[in-house]
Amino acid sequence: MGIVRRAIERMEGYRPGEQPSDGKFIKLNTNENPYPPSPRVREALAGEAERLQLYPDPLAEALRERIAGIHGVPKERVIAGNGSDDVLTMVMRTFAERGDPVASPVPTYTLYETLCGIQGARYLPVPYREDYSLDPSAVPARAKVVFVANPNSPSGTLLPAATLSAIAGRIAGVLVVDEAYVDFARRDCLDLARRHENVIILRSLSKSFSLAGLRLGYGIAREEIVSNLRKVKDSYNVSRLALAGGLAALGDLPWMRENVRKVVATRRRLTAGLQRLGFGVLPSEANFVLACTTGYPARQIHELLKRKRILVRYYDTPRLRDCIRVSVGTDEETEALLVQIAEIIGARIPTGGKATRGNPHG
Ligand SMILES: Cc1ncc(COP(=O)(O)O)c(C=O)c1O
Repeated sequence: MGIVRRAIERMEGYRPGEQPSDGKFIKLNTNENPYPPSPRVREALAGEAERLQLYPDPLAEALRERIAGIHGVPKERVIAGNGSDDVLTMVMRTFAERGDPVASPVPTYTLYETLCGIQGARYLPVPYREDYSLDPSAVPARAKVVFVANPNSPSGTLLPAATLSAIAGRIAGVLVVDEAYVDFARRDCLDLARRHENVIILRSLSKSFSLAGLRLGYGIAREEIVSNLRKVKDSYNVSRLALAGGLAALGDLPWMRENVRKVVATRRRLTAGLQRLGFGVLPSEANFVLACTTGYPARQIHELLKRKRILVRYYDTPRLRDCIRVSVGTDEETEALLVQIAEIIGARIPTGGKATRGNPHG
């Protein structure tokens, strides 16, 4: 076209997981929570609907106060976003000049690379080891921003705080620890934001709080970082509905924790079921698992499941070509998935015992 920035014209753009418009799919492709949010959210949204003629609070004071209270940090250290994706954008705008090196261990959330492309920064992928551990000294010290999803997607694996601390200690720029899935994990790394001046912790209400459709996330960092992030954000970046719904959800932590408990229990069943069907499944600390096959082609499993109206995520990259990423649904959805996969690969459906593998290509 000639008038579009060359970097934008050349880039592919982020490709989100499929969101079918008809509801007749078992959706296990975008790591949504299978359970609804707290009933208090609905009540809060109904009340707020009366006030939609007014702009929202641009600084999200009440929400940030609640977040600060939950984590025991001053509210000046909290920034709210239209999903945690919004905070990722703020970070790129604030810390990366054109051509600056920006790194992340890969494979990971592909939006990091897309945001680099938009900003004109130079993306430096650092491969995870085979077992998804990471050598901190492999992360380039000159990086202006390092993104680490912890738990990581699509692997579901968790890096130890010591590894992240070592990265924070060696890089010139900021370390973003993206904890979108951390409520499903055994531990978080919030403490790193207290111990390191260059760490930004990111949280999302899309997963554990079941609010993917509302769009709300936040970052925690030292005050100077937060005040600079604020300068680059859209002025009313969190809507009235997101503020009200988020405040209500954060006011009902037991509801979230109960949903997390159910998801973690189903994750165990899903992992065991997939292993019985012959998949290698990485131990997951998130609300999804990465399941890899040595027999039947993963791409085909993905496509055939889709015909059976079950969506899972497939990544056509050399490292992930043999894998599917499966979100943890309800027990019923998980059972349906396992039955269909067994049918596709010609295995006998496990009833607690071992599945028999048929001809993988038959
Ligand atoms: C690692 C990671 N970070 C952030 C996000 C985005 O979360 P949000 O819905 O809060 O923008 C996702 C969404 O899938 C994710 O996988």
